[in-house]
Amino acid sequence: MHKLVLRSVTKSYAAGSAVLKPFDLVAQAGELVVLVGPSGCGKSTLLKLIAGLEKLDDGQILLGERDITNVEPRHRRIAMVFQNYALYPHLSVRENLAYPLRRQKLRAADIVLKVSAVARQLRLDELLDRRPSQLSGGQKQRVAMGRAIIREPDLFLLDEPLSNLDAALRTHVRGEIRDLQRRLGTTMIYVTHDQVEAQTLADRLVIMRNGEVQQVGPPQEIYERPANIFAAAFLGTAPPNFLAGRIVDDRVEIGQASLPLADLPGECRTALAGREQIYVGLRPEMLRPTCDLDRDHFVLRGKVIRREIVGNSQNVHFRSEAGSADAAKLSALAGRHLSDELVWTTERAGTDDAVELGIRPESILFFDTDGVAIGAHGSDAL
Ligand SMILES: Nc1ncnc2c1ncn2[C@@H]1O[C@H](COP(=O)(O)OP(=O)(O)OP(=O)(O)O)[C@@H](O)[C@H]1O
Ligand SMILES: [Mg+2]
Repeated sequence: MHKLVLRSVTKSYAAGSAVLKPFDLVAQAGELVVLVGPSGCGKSTLLKLIAGLEKLDDGQILLGERDITNVEPRHRRIAMVFQNYALYPHLSVRENLAYPLRRQKLRAADIVLKVSAVARQLRLDELLDRRPSQLSGGQKQRVAMGRAIIREPDLFLLDEPLSNLDAALRTHVRGEIRDLQRRLGTTMIYVTHDQVEAQTLADRLVIMRNGEVQQVGPPQEIYERPANIFAAAFLGTAPPNFLAGRIVDDRVEIGQASLPLADLPGECRTALAGREQIYVGLRPEMLRPTCDLDRDHFVLRGKVIRREIVGNSQNVHFRSEAGSADAAKLSALAGRHLSDELVWTTERAGTDDAVELGIRPESILFFDTDGVAIGAHGSDAL
């Protein structure tokens, strides 16, 4: 198992527009680190720099005990799986798997043994004589994984390896990749757009934006204590409701709604005291009808304007009575059925009746006017 360290790595393709600002990252030996971020933020570029397919402008890359910054790609002992799998169309599955070993000039008998071991591991035995054009998307994906693991690399780099698969297969293969990585214990950097995929796979998540790290940490920690509005909006079924608020005397005020600072957890209370303008983030899944809450909570009122039913949940949209323009719309996430208190309450209310929505004070996210979390927490050490 090998630790990967990136120190102040920079890259620009054109003068004056840095794709990666000085970028630092550590993946511990055997860790599965997932990079997420919007299109164009530099995820693929980062993987290509690690693999040696692009040259970095500055900085250092260490893998285990080795400084690989200037090592030829084929000597880095890194295997990369791309979105399009990059299989050789004219070669059979067997030959695609054997290819990296032939390049390493392994003995023919050893190659046969390794190919059959990997084929068994990835359930490709029956497919060894087929060409890539005769395989389904999921099977091609398994061949690409097979070709990566057969080299027994020190590091795996996966760049959106599941985006060509349908939703059901993605969920299945995602689990297989996780199991395989655990079994092999090989350090892995995995790139995806998909926040569900990211959260289910990652030991730690790296949220990127414009070539910079926004936050690093275990998925649950980032969900509960996002470092900024960008990270808060990135994780979760639906983005949080962000509302403008003010601190007046010893209360948080959002339009007509108000909450004593004394009800907030200590670190938050201290960090909010003395501020004026702030933003709060209310996760839709944390908003409940007040009758469902058993102790002090922050209450907003709103009228139902729309419901969206998705599978076993319902997204209920409200026009808020909180007063400020920012607070005009709110969404709350409920279960699908009448037994869910929020569904029951909102369905019973007439069109002109306001519903009271509450949230536990400790679930409220607070941000300053630059969008940086207040009373947080920030990133892990990179
Ligand atoms: N070879 C290149 N020459 C010039 N610009 C490039 C090159 N490769 C990437 N870029 C630019 O660098 C930026 C980052 O690209 P990159 O492919 O790393 O993004 P990404 O985060 O992987 O995006 P996506 O999620 O869409 O795959 C983009 O603005 C892109 O246009
Ligand atoms: Mg990319």
